[in-house]
Amino acid sequence: MKASKIIGVGSYVPDNVFTNFDLEKMMDTSDEWIQQRTGIVERRWVSDDQGTSDLALNASLEAIKSAGIDKNEIDMIVFATLSPDHDFPGSGCFLQAKLDLPEIPAIDLRQQCTGFLYAMSVADKFISSGSHKNVLVVGAEVHSKGLDKTPEGRTVSVLFGDGAGAVIMSACDVEDRTKERCFIDAHLHSDGKFAKELWLPGPGNSFERPVRIDQQMLDEGLHYPQMNGKTVFVHAVKRMAQCLQELCVKHRVSLEDIDLFLFHQANLRINSKVAEVMGIPEEKIFNTIQKYGNTTAATIPLGMNDAVKEGKLKEGMLVASAAFGSGFTWASALYRW
Ligand code: UT7
Repeated sequence: MKASKIIGVGSYVPDNVFTNFDLEKMMDTSDEWIQQRTGIVERRWVSDDQGTSDLALNASLEAIKSAGIDKNEIDMIVFATLSPDHDFPGSGCFLQAKLDLPEIPAIDLRQQCTGFLYAMSVADKFISSGSHKNVLVVGAEVHSKGLDKTPEGRTVSVLFGDGAGAVIMSACDVEDRTKERCFIDAHLHSDGKFAKELWLPGPGNSFERPVRIDQQMLDEGLHYPQMNGKTVFVHAVKRMAQCLQELCVKHRVSLEDIDLFLFHQANLRINSKVAEVMGIPEEKIFNTIQKYGNTTAATIPLGMNDAVKEGKLKEGMLVASAAFGSGFTWASALYRW
């Protein structure tokens, strides 16, 4: 049976480090509050000349190198981001031009923190259908240019960082997906009833106004992300545990069989709670939020690359990922590295 496997991984974070102490100088917050409530110690923010597809380019070049393929062998890009370079076209098109790839399809996905798992699942489906062979899957975000860095923005702005991660998913033949090295499966969900619990209202055309953005919207701060943190937290724990469980049951995989858990990085307390609820030993969870903050669609591939470099993720390991975010969207994925 046709399947896909991850044959290369890369990541990139900007050089500029902003610690919690740096944020104390911008807004009414403290290193103690941020660390206790989220686990974040520092994050990377881009310099003025960097956009989302620039970060993606660096991550993609490393992924292509680690896959050991020629870039011209890539036959599709799937790009997950909530912070595209521009409203349109998608960042996938900008990346395709920067990589100077042939006229391959470039798909942008808008599933926020869950974006990378949706993107891997889409890539897997194209590859498993036999239509594509080597798909570049990217998660990249530039949050820092869109955050309210005044005291009013402290609830959201301390959480987010910039970064990018990428993998090359490549065609393979397997007899049993659960036993061989491949992308086993993903479960994808959404519930739009909760869309406004975590969202970026403006610019937008659903307001009773003749234009997508005006001074009044800027004055009201509608161009900054808005979040009901407590609601998001409670749903994140419940949904991440639930979708991991359903995937394990479907494939008759026990939690003990899983070697490494690469979860989305929104809050260290969310991941600890999921571990507690499910009975997963903390040492099996690989977290990076301490140094990068929440990089939404980039968190999982960033974690993959760091885990490989630290020797925590090795060939043959069974890996489980779960993510939750704006939409609400949530997803889980099982893959053998
Ligand atoms: O990627 C998916 C999307 N995001 C998430 O999954 C985030 C989910 N939610 C969370 O991680 C947490 O809810 C937060 C980290 C956002 C907030 O933690 P919390 O424990 O739920 O805090 P809170 O919102 O209840 O705020 C507690 C207090 C409040 O003060 P009072 O009303 O108790 O006096 C806030 O005003 O902390 C205050 N506060 C801050 N203080 C210092 C809020 N933000 C800050 C801040 N620095 N940055």
